[in-house]
Amino acid sequence: MHRSPLETAAGDALAPLDACHRRTLAAVAELRALAAAIGYAGITPAVRATAASVVQFLSATARAHHEDEERHVFPALLASDDPALLDTVRCLRQQHGWLEEIWREIEPHLTAIATDRGAWDIDVLSAAIEVLSDLYRDHIALEESIAYPEARARRTPAARARRTETRMTTPRATLRIIREEHGALSAMLSSILLLLAQHRQRGSLPDFTALRAMLFYLDEFPEQRHHRKESELLFPKLRARTPQSRELLDRLDAEHARGECAIRELEHALLAFEMLGAPRRAAFEQAAQRYVEFYLAHIRLEEQEILPLAERVLSDADWAELDAAFATNRDPFTGHAPEAPYEALFSRIVNLVPAPLGLGAAD
Ligand SMILES: [Fe+2]
Ligand SMILES: [Fe+2]
Ligand SMILES: [Fe+2]
Ligand SMILES: [Fe+2]
Repeated sequence: MHRSPLETAAGDALAPLDACHRRTLAAVAELRALAAAIGYAGITPAVRATAASVVQFLSATARAHHEDEERHVFPALLASDDPALLDTVRCLRQQHGWLEEIWREIEPHLTAIATDRGAWDIDVLSAAIEVLSDLYRDHIALEESIAYPEARARRTPAARARRTETRMTTPRATLRIIREEHGALSAMLSSILLLLAQHRQRGSLPDFTALRAMLFYLDEFPEQRHHRKESELLFPKLRARTPQSRELLDRLDAEHARGECAIRELEHALLAFEMLGAPRRAAFEQAAQRYVEFYLAHIRLEEQEILPLAERVLSDADWAELDAAFATNRDPFTGHAPEAPYEALFSRIVNLVPAPLGLGAAD
């Protein structure tokens, strides 16, 4: 039984939840270091102890934290009449489901390492840790930039009265949508590597239909829609407002153009793996690894350089135009009902793609 974090402490009642985020990010960083340490030093007493403490934290404290949010933070936000805020809360709940699924994949490997009993596989574990790490980073950023400030603004009449002011400082819809879509893209990219690692460990062939569906999603939403909106709408507005970061914008545009080509090459490598079997496994896995690294680096650059620049230089009129454009063609993996033509496709993808993103089996 959890006491409401909004009702307990005096002062900032959400501070314990913020503190839990710092501890969660530290635990995930420890997990990444642990996977690297196993790679060069094998299982040592220190590795066992770290595995045990992270299992304890993520199985108990982090799960209770999600429960607290679902019970005590999200309901007040879901009573809002702000459609953008409702979108964000739906996206956060979807991410809680993904975090639970991917933790269930990781936990048995870590327990086997901690107790020296049972099977574990470093490739599968490392790939799953990357998915968990991406998901937690995006999830916590979304909570701390939108959900918590909105929850704080609803706590007291005085805070509610200041809410108009608070809203002025909450991120623009375009920036929120870009971050949510980056979160879905990162999760899908990392999930592809996890799926490949699971099958490499078992010596089995992956479900090619599921992999085709994942690559089709990447082509249909991030490549065709997300990148297009950045290159055709956001980047030209930035160039019109500032001479800063021109080279970086040119580089990102070139990467968008290269991305369409890269996904075709990856689809071809997948077809070769499917048609010719095991001899083409390594070539596809290496191509997938390169593609994922390329896109994760691209996303980081946009989030660290371009989105802060946009916040500094764009006008209200720019934002109004961008917000309207970015609100269309939303990615269904950010908690939105797919548009009519995509309904059947999306439910097919969800049913084929394994956890954490979908409902399909990993086998
Ligand atoms: Fe959460
Ligand atoms: Fe949280
Ligand atoms: Fe981009
Ligand atoms: Fe982007």
